Amino acid sequence: MSERILIIGSSGQIGTELVIELRRMYGDENVIASDIRPLSNHVMQTGPFETLDILDEQLLRKIIKKYKITQVYLLAALLSATAEQNIELGWRLNMRSHSHVLDLAKDGLINKIFWPSSIAVFGPTTPMENTPQYTIMEPNTVYGITKQAGERWSEYYYNKFGVDVRSLRYPGLIGWKSEPGGGTTDYAVNIFHKAITEGKYESFLLEDTALPMMYMPDAIRATIELMEAPQEKVKIRSSYNLAGISFTPKQIANEIKKHIPNFEISYNPDFRQKIADSWPSSINDLQAKMDWGWNLEYNLEKMTKDMMMNLMKKYKINE
Ligand code: NAD
Ligand code: SER
Repeated sequence: MSERILIIGSSGQIGTELVIELRRMYGDENVIASDIRPLSNHVMQTGPFETLDILDEQLLRKIIKKYKITQVYLLAALLSATAEQNIELGWRLNMRSHSHVLDLAKDGLINKIFWPSSIAVFGPTTPMENTPQYTIMEPNTVYGITKQAGERWSEYYYNKFGVDVRSLRYPGLIGWKSEPGGGTTDYAVNIFHKAITEGKYESFLLEDTALPMMYMPDAIRATIELMEAPQEKVKIRSSYNLAGISFTPKQIANEIKKHIPNFEISYNPDFRQKIADSWPSSINDLQAKMDWGWNLEYNLEKMTKDMMMNLMKKYKINE
């Protein structure tokens, strides 16, 4: 059967790039983008778009039937920093959206779901270095609590109702095609834009705060590889650890200085420092490697080079 895919929250940092790649793979007409706000012009013009508030379950079901959807990628959420500022919406959006989509599969309307988790499922009592797949998880942010509850809910639906739900614990994601949407790891995207446009950046995290990060092409590839893997290879139905690359604000600034020698960084930590301090500094993703053959492509140096090249072009600056 040919696949018809609905992406919910498609106008965000990941959705913008995922829509492009899935349309390339499955054909423009077979990938329906949806969000409460429009996508970039380029993406809007290449295929169908539906305005959808994921909290409106009836409209969701109408769209699923209208397009005969087989797979859903659920990306709508409030991220860590934004959710801390609106905990009621963070809880409601992150939890209800997941239930609405899991119920579609339970009711036999769709076959497969992708739902992202995060390094935010871990908390201050988790071992911080090389964090294993199975470990202590006591998240202390509303975002992390919704991700952990979501993981348990996914696994429950898989075991109880056979729902084919797949998930990755994304590290902080870095890309040049779209803006980040209110996370604690956003500094690692903002730093590139400010380095190029102003030659300086004030970091809201301290210089030695190491966090796991990943370049967007790796994240998109991991997502699609997991979704394309044969059922029997997907052994974890809560969510897979993904390691990515771990670095500090000081280390990424030094890498940027190789391209912009006069670049200056200063540090002025805010409420996001406490969130970052509760997350691991590096992750162990052996299980993803063993189960479905995951392999990272971009390290810090390669990612920085590619980000600089693409953003310089975007800002029409010669490096
Ligand atoms: P984002 O904030 O950039 O995008 C989220 C999108 O959801 C936005 O376009 C927003 O308009 C949309 N949205 C908000 N409320 C909605 C609603 N009620 N109905 C429909 N759409 C709605 O987020 P992102 O970075 O693209 O993240 C996508 C998913 O990946 C989230 O679940 C997030 O937790 C997870 N994740 C992201 C990162 C990261 O670094 N970006 C890391 C780990 C996990
Ligand atoms: N990058 C995300 C955030 O900072 C982690 O899920 O919220």
